[in-house]
Amino acid sequence: MRRILLIVGGGIAAYKACELVRLIRKAGMRVTCVLTEGGQHFVTPMTLAALSENQVYTTLWDLKDEAEMGHIQLSRQADLIVVAPATADLLARMAAGIADDLATTLLLATDKPVLAAPAMNVRMWQHAATRRNVATLSADGVTVMEPDEGPMACGEYGPGRLPEPEAILAAIERHFAGPGPLAGRHVVVTAGPTHEPIDPVRYIANRSSGKQGFAIAGALAELGARVTLVAGPVTLPTPAGVERIDIETAREMAAAVEAALPADAAVLVAAVADWRVEPAAHKLKKGDGPPALALSPNPDILATLGEHPERPRLLIGFAAETERVTAQAAEKRARKHVDWIVANDVSGDVMGGDRNTVHLVTADRIEDWEPMDKEDVAHRLAQRIADAL
Ligand code: CTP
Repeated sequence: MRRILLIVGGGIAAYKACELVRLIRKAGMRVTCVLTEGGQHFVTPMTLAALSENQVYTTLWDLKDEAEMGHIQLSRQADLIVVAPATADLLARMAAGIADDLATTLLLATDKPVLAAPAMNVRMWQHAATRRNVATLSADGVTVMEPDEGPMACGEYGPGRLPEPEAILAAIERHFAGPGPLAGRHVVVTAGPTHEPIDPVRYIANRSSGKQGFAIAGALAELGARVTLVAGPVTLPTPAGVERIDIETAREMAAAVEAALPADAAVLVAAVADWRVEPAAHKLKKGDGPPALALSPNPDILATLGEHPERPRLLIGFAAETERVTAQAAEKRARKHVDWIVANDVSGDVMGGDRNTVHLVTADRIEDWEPMDKEDVAHRLAQRIADAL
């Protein structure tokens, strides 16, 4: 049985560590918890002991604990040490090699791999000191997850939220899964809509939740690929192990995709706005009457990649159609010099939903996939990409 040593730091997100303990247990792993002093302000040793069905350690200075299990031994008997939430202070002490409590002493004494899931205020995450500490820890071989972006307990918004317990578990499982069939491969994924500003407050966009593209990026990372996810404006957490680049317009997306090359494969799922307008510098006033929007075409990123000198070996596009779905997809495949098109019929309620019915159009055939969750579409497609590369 795999053994996890979970260090719970002192942040409001510590309550999520309870759910993480439950998930780790459910996944068939053993978990021993260490609570920092700060952590004890947010969850009690009793909660973690009950959930982990194991003793919880809180201090270096417990004669009984030390007699039964020395702290060096505690740090070595795990297969993986997980720090969640990893506060700014904990990351700083780890980076500096400070050992002034049980958690940091274990982290300094261990010879086991360490995975840290940060959680802190957005400004603390973006502070030069934290950037420096994360860089140091990465160079030391610690895997530091990207925090989620969203509203925070402190009322601010941005990156700094603890990754969801499911994402932390996925990172743990990936650690044990080894390199995976896509190890050493780089895949670029686009997802979500693009926004084309009309003026400072208005924009043109396509409908897209980003769910399918984000699921594909996550599934590819699970198979070991290095994934660059170029994302339009959506409110989704970054899948574990994925490098995310946020953009707003089609031209920004095109530039980010170009900058991410070379890649072994590209999966362009984004619903790119086909047209843009020259945005007005100031808000258009209603009283001036409806403006005439002069539309000009946006770059077609998929078609550009199809003819690019650094064309990815496997180029995959999506086609959302409302009629003659596979016929139009096949035509698009040939016209844009694409290897595969994943076609879906969007005349129903696919947009924003969790399920999808797709057809995989390749050079020599059309496969009809049964209706399934977007997550399942993602996993099947990622596996097909792994087979093809
Ligand atoms: N795409 C892109 N850049 C664009 C437009 C589309 O990369 N400016 C990509 C999408 O990410 C998707 C595929 O192309 O992979 C979808 O193409 P689509 O917009 O359906 O094709 P069009 O050539 O625009 O055909 P039509 O609008 O006539 O259906």
